[in-house]
Amino acid sequence: MLYERVLVTGANGLLGRELVGLLGRFSEYDVLATGRSATTQSDGSYGYMPLDITVRRDVQHAFRDFEPTVVINCAAMTDVDRCETDRKACWKANAEAVETLAQQCSDTGARLIQLSTDFVFNGLNGPYEENARPDPVNFYGKSKQAAENAVRRAGFDKWTIARTVLVYGAGSHTDRSDFVLWLLDRLSSEQSVQVVTDQWRTPTCVADLAWGVERIVRRRRGGIFHLSGAEWMSIYDFAHMIADVFGLDSRLIRPVDASTFRQTADRPAKTGFIILKAQTELDYRPRPVRETLRRIGVRLGLV
Ligand SMILES: NC(=O)c1ccc[n+]([C@@H]2O[C@H](COP(=O)([O-])OP(=O)(O)OC[C@H]3O[C@@H](n4cnc5c(N)ncnc54)[C@H](OP(=O)(O)O)[C@@H]3O)[C@@H](O)[C@H]2O)c1
Repeated sequence: MLYERVLVTGANGLLGRELVGLLGRFSEYDVLATGRSATTQSDGSYGYMPLDITVRRDVQHAFRDFEPTVVINCAAMTDVDRCETDRKACWKANAEAVETLAQQCSDTGARLIQLSTDFVFNGLNGPYEENARPDPVNFYGKSKQAAENAVRRAGFDKWTIARTVLVYGAGSHTDRSDFVLWLLDRLSSEQSVQVVTDQWRTPTCVADLAWGVERIVRRRRGGIFHLSGAEWMSIYDFAHMIADVFGLDSRLIRPVDASTFRQTADRPAKTGFIILKAQTELDYRPRPVRETLRRIGVRLGLV
């Protein structure tokens, strides 16, 4: 019978929180959630321990005490603009800490599932398959590519890289926002927003992503997987879909292109993923974006 001792890092983040909630529902997983906060809100289906993955000694202690068979690294510095300006902190959390995790997994025989991003690609010819060549356009993407390389070169074969794209669906139990919540906040208070028409993504509902990661654990799959939604659209069209589902005024959404909308870090234009490999090998079935939005609306009491 499948039995895994699963250590999840970054468990207070958007994905981490969803994932520990999901894994905790299965009796075959013994889950230790870890994050930088001293405490977390847990329903008791998993344990929690503070862990900063940049502190090598604490990581070593966590491996020694919990003896994980699977480590899912959801911890990362994910503020793309901050990564551009605070490169040292970004590299420490996103690249160096992953080297430590990979080394520990290599030494102990645990599988490492490393979360990664569409921002490893330059966005010139998305949507991308798993074997496309990374070529990041910003420092965040560079740090995540370095993490991927650290995992692949650590000298063990029990590694999986799960890349994802524009994740939404944050729960009310977290202060983490996302694009959907940000837009709802603005439109419902009748503020206009500028949204780019020339950046394309395959938006990903966090609940579907968590299911995809669970499939990787259950099927003990190695290699690279693209886990995202199945619908490729511009961020502007995504914003319109959100306004439509929630019955909000879409005239408040002003189209802009990336050249007029300057941000500290460059963003790749057309990313998004082809998810055929995950569909075939993991039976990964992300739901239609509209359906996930309606469910979020029901959960928030808005539709
Ligand atoms: N969200 C997206 O749209 C998206 C898209 C593509 C890829 N991804 C990838 O998916 C993964 C999960 O992202 P997410 O959306 O869940 O991000 P998130 O909500 O920002 O969560 C990341 C978590 O990592 C924690 N963290 C940061 N540095 C840490 C450290 N040194 N030690 C321990 N924990 C640390 C953060 O803790 P604090 O709360 O204390 O800061 C936060 O809880 C990441 O690898 C990210 O690169 C996300």
